Amino acid sequence: MPDIFETRFITPSFAEEDIEIETTLRPQFLVDYIGQFKTKEKLDIFMKAACLREEQLDHVLLYGPPGLGKTTLANIIANEMKVNIKITSGPAIERPGDLAAILSNLQENDVLFIDEIHRLNRNIEEVLYPAMEDFVLDIIIGKGPSARSLRIDLPKFTLVGATTRLGKLTSPLRDRFGIICKLELYNNDDLDKIVKRSSGILDIVIEDDAAMQLASRSRGTPRIVNRLLKRVRDYSQVKADGIINKNIANEALDLLEVDKLGLDGVDIKILSTIVEKFDGGPVGLDTLSASTDEERSTIEDVYEPFLLQLGFINRTPRGRVVTKLGYDHLSKNFIDK
Ligand SMILES: Nc1ncnc2c1ncn2[C@@H]1O[C@H](COP(=O)(O)OP(=O)(O)OP(=O)(O)O)[C@@H](O)[C@H]1O
Ligand SMILES: [Mg+2]
Repeated sequence: MPDIFETRFITPSFAEEDIEIETTLRPQFLVDYIGQFKTKEKLDIFMKAACLREEQLDHVLLYGPPGLGKTTLANIIANEMKVNIKITSGPAIERPGDLAAILSNLQENDVLFIDEIHRLNRNIEEVLYPAMEDFVLDIIIGKGPSARSLRIDLPKFTLVGATTRLGKLTSPLRDRFGIICKLELYNNDDLDKIVKRSSGILDIVIEDDAAMQLASRSRGTPRIVNRLLKRVRDYSQVKADGIINKNIANEALDLLEVDKLGLDGVDIKILSTIVEKFDGGPVGLDTLSASTDEERSTIEDVYEPFLLQLGFINRTPRGRVVTKLGYDHLSKNFIDK
């Protein structure tokens, strides 16, 4: 058995082990992309309109928690528009010249995908503004009084930006995106469809109620549901006949220490810290981060969205509080303050 306890298992962030599975399972066209109805409909209309006008698609910003399908959608956009995609990320672009080189090598209507776009440096962002707006590059040549600026035309392109943090984007950058899509956590029916699609591709036999078990324990995240499927497959091949039924799925998931709702030890630690050390809250994010020994950004991006979705915590102006539902999950008595 792989060492399942080595890394935190249900982290929705990309992990080494996902490489193989993500490349085979990643939907290539919009019809295969499950859920996210609003986003799909929006993109479908805008892409069709751009094709009819034979123009490039407007710039698209995709935001939402890790593992919900932002990179997948960027690739789908390029496939649907029948154009090339060039992939880079905010931290990878170190100097304005790097971005200038990428932009000037694009072809007409291409997609430029910048992942983690909130991590672009300010001086690089400034190169991006005229490029996005007027498809030009303004280059300063020389220094001091003899410096002059040179304007170079760029091919018309579509910038697709992805971020887990909309709030971290500067407003001039955000305003230059014509299409902004928020990806939501998936519901169990959609995750169930994803499990079935993935099992079909990977030749895994899984019974209906087992698929639903995986769906309901994967915290609204396709990346996690695919990872659970892979681990449950390993378990069923070693412990049973390879067919995944509800019992096998439950046994494997219990072994992975993923509870009935998909919560792991860290979720529980966050909830119980607020309850035990801060009397249920409110407690500020920094204090919570110090008391739980978890990074502030991990709490904010990974744990909080799901705990909020379950209704186990609330955000108030004075900090986070645990709700009655959260107390119930910990089997503790809730005292309404
Ligand atoms: N709507 C979907 N339908 C089917 N599978 C999906 C869907 N969205 C995502 N997936 C699966 O989940 C995996 C993770 O998605 P993806 O890499 O696009 O997430 P992401 O939002 O870019 O994550 P990150 O923030 O970590 O970059 C994909 O490889 C794909 O197999
Ligand atoms: Mg991604």
